[in-house]
Amino acid sequence: MVSYGYFDDKNKEYVITNPQTPVKWINYIGTLKFGGFVDHTGGALLCKGDPALNRIHKYIPQMPAGEFKGSTLYVRIKEGNSYKVFSPFYVPTLNKYDLFECHVGLSYQRIISECFGVRTEVTIFVPNGDAVEIRDIKVTNKSGQDLDIDVIPLVEYSHPDALKQLTNADWVPQTMTSRVDDFGKGFKVLRQYPFMKRDTTVNYLTSNYPISSFESDRKKFLGDYEYGTFANPLSLQQPELSNFETIRGNSIGALMHHLGVMKSGETKRIVVQLGQEESVEKALPSIKKYQDVKNVDAAFKALADFWVDYLSTMHVETPDASFNSMINVHNPRQCHVTKNWSRDLSYNQLGFGGRGIGYRDSSQDVLGVMPNMPEEAMAFVKKILSTQKPDGSAMHQFFASTMEANEGDSREEKGHKWYSDDHLWPIISVAFYIKETGNIKVLDESVTFYDKTKPVDQREVGTVFEHLQRALEFTRTHVGQHGLPLLGFADWNDTVNLHGNAESIFTCCLYGKGLLEMIELCTFLKKVDLVKKYQGYYEDMRTAFNACAWDGEWYVRWFEADGTPLGSQKNEGSKLFINAQSWPVMCGFATTERGQKALESLRTKLNTKYGIKISWPSFNGFDWRKGGVTTYPPGSKENGGIFLHTNPWCMLAETVMGNGDRAFEYYNQVNPAAKNDIIEIFESAPYNYPQNILGDDHPQFGIGRNSWLSGTSTWMYTVSTKNILGILPVYEGLAINPCIPKAWKEFKVVRKFRGVTYTILVKNPEGVCRGVKKMLVNGLEVKGNIIIPQTKDTVVEVTLGSGGIMDSLAEKYTTEKVKA
Ligand code: GLC
Repeated sequence: MVSYGYFDDKNKEYVITNPQTPVKWINYIGTLKFGGFVDHTGGALLCKGDPALNRIHKYIPQMPAGEFKGSTLYVRIKEGNSYKVFSPFYVPTLNKYDLFECHVGLSYQRIISECFGVRTEVTIFVPNGDAVEIRDIKVTNKSGQDLDIDVIPLVEYSHPDALKQLTNADWVPQTMTSRVDDFGKGFKVLRQYPFMKRDTTVNYLTSNYPISSFESDRKKFLGDYEYGTFANPLSLQQPELSNFETIRGNSIGALMHHLGVMKSGETKRIVVQLGQEESVEKALPSIKKYQDVKNVDAAFKALADFWVDYLSTMHVETPDASFNSMINVHNPRQCHVTKNWSRDLSYNQLGFGGRGIGYRDSSQDVLGVMPNMPEEAMAFVKKILSTQKPDGSAMHQFFASTMEANEGDSREEKGHKWYSDDHLWPIISVAFYIKETGNIKVLDESVTFYDKTKPVDQREVGTVFEHLQRALEFTRTHVGQHGLPLLGFADWNDTVNLHGNAESIFTCCLYGKGLLEMIELCTFLKKVDLVKKYQGYYEDMRTAFNACAWDGEWYVRWFEADGTPLGSQKNEGSKLFINAQSWPVMCGFATTERGQKALESLRTKLNTKYGIKISWPSFNGFDWRKGGVTTYPPGSKENGGIFLHTNPWCMLAETVMGNGDRAFEYYNQVNPAAKNDIIEIFESAPYNYPQNILGDDHPQFGIGRNSWLSGTSTWMYTVSTKNILGILPVYEGLAINPCIPKAWKEFKVVRKFRGVTYTILVKNPEGVCRGVKKMLVNGLEVKGNIIIPQTKDTVVEVTLGSGGIMDSLAEKYTTEKVKA
């Protein structure tokens, strides 16, 4: 039992108490407009607009944990003619400390430490909407004697073109420049830019305390031609820094602040700002604003208020404390992070331009923020749709700042230059948006189709609705020999890259799910002809699927170009894949009997105590015919690992079957909060979902990797709130359709929906999983399980019991209208 910290639910923080975590645990500040991550030892990687094209810090995650990364803070105590130098962040000086706490907060990181009698408390955040990082530093002498203390914040810059920084050691250092603007009385602003940006974009570093000297050149700061180190910078043994304005080399910014002799018990506060603006002159109003600590406090309060408001969209009280803590704080917080950074910038996803914003990834990420910020989410969906091609397929990814899109890894491919699933995901995103807001007008809004050969104003335009329709048509017209969708370069599983006209069961089911959403939407819109058309499409695909996909005990996952199934008992390598069992149930293609059997096979062959594996058994050896999946050793990532994104889909499938106990069991086995005491096994941060956990074919079974940016977050939140708790927006209003563990006697949800707050109390006297037997809305019994939108705050009392309504309107469309 090893933990490195604890959850502080009252303050909505996780507090790390031991800096030697098995991997860096990070937190995000700001947004994609200006922000990035700060690790628990104060290292930072911030960008403005785009991690690949406008990066501020040089932060190289591959360097060992104890090394300097991007940013730190030094404190030094004068001792005769020399100085005792240490970092209150532990890294990079690694001194013995008396106290270390990193408070991982909602968009802020607060590092508190005590070392050599000095207590340092540093709060790091980005004020809402501003392009500046604040480091609010409080230093207290607790030593019992007078101490002469200096404080030196330090930043190491990257060239804004992040990849160039790593690949061009000639041009980059020739251009990196720093200049100081000295406004007198110690008020200095250190400006940094590559030469070409001199007149347009500068980084600035400054503070609200007299700066007696500065350094902008790494070589001079470390000393001895860099045989001095960040753990022991030789310049910090001198009374002052050299005031050198770099005209080439490795750019840093270090600011010397002499706090002077501090009495024991005395505290001093310094606010350091790192921002980016067109010019220092333009930045001055903002700089002056945050020189005043009252404005810093107000900005921090505004950030806290944002989160109170954001999280008040939904608050749950269930019998499970750890579930409550995840659903009320950490899971929606992670969804907000994935909405901002897609798969672009994290400790493992390095934002050098290989990724950008993922078409499929972000189309899913928006689902998790839809209740809280539907308009921002929909605006983002429209950006995503503007990278859909006129033929209905999609570009795979794009840069947020330039909206330039590319085909991802399928660029390299000689055959199909598209992923078969990408274009289908926004159907779900748009449906979620309309169900949440009731705003059907969005369907008529215009969005361009992507064509890299034409400027934006000459591109074809279509309505949002047309974009969704073209997506369905593309899949319908790109099918293989079994009538199933062609795989293209890959489907959701990036790493199975089969050649020629292979077919994908996953895309087949996603298409089915997309059709269900369209049928439901068109029924609501009374577009009778379209309902008929899409019911026909659905039936055709369902028939094709059932004619070939059943393998006896489970469904197969792909067909290779020659018709050989993959994910079948007949295979030599992997025989069973998770998504081919959950998705047929989710999209209604599975018959009840086969669906149950498939979920049983999934349980017996894939389930482990740390989550459900993606496949069984793992491939063991590189095979170019299968693709990237075989580059992984058995048990890791997509090769038999617990690829967490897939687990909430199994939970969802179990709720479709009415099995609330199993859905919740699957939830619990991957809940990161529940791993807080087994960090020696899990290693990953316990306050968010990692992308993957090593499976039981791997000797290090249980290790989590790649925290924060995973589709797990959006789906865990969606399935937990909409399918387990059953608080489900539908076109007509708010449906209540829980599927919970039998042992839950009651639960309460406060949910804001279309401008009104609903307090929903659910009682379960008979101990069932689902079935709404009785529902009172403001004391009046209503028929059915849908609350028609109300105009004032509303109390809803729900009693579950056997014989109650078992499904939502959404499922009714499936069962009655489609299957009829
Ligand atoms: C990664 C990718 C995502 C893909 C998944 C499975 O998470 O970001 O797009 O669906 O891997 O391969």
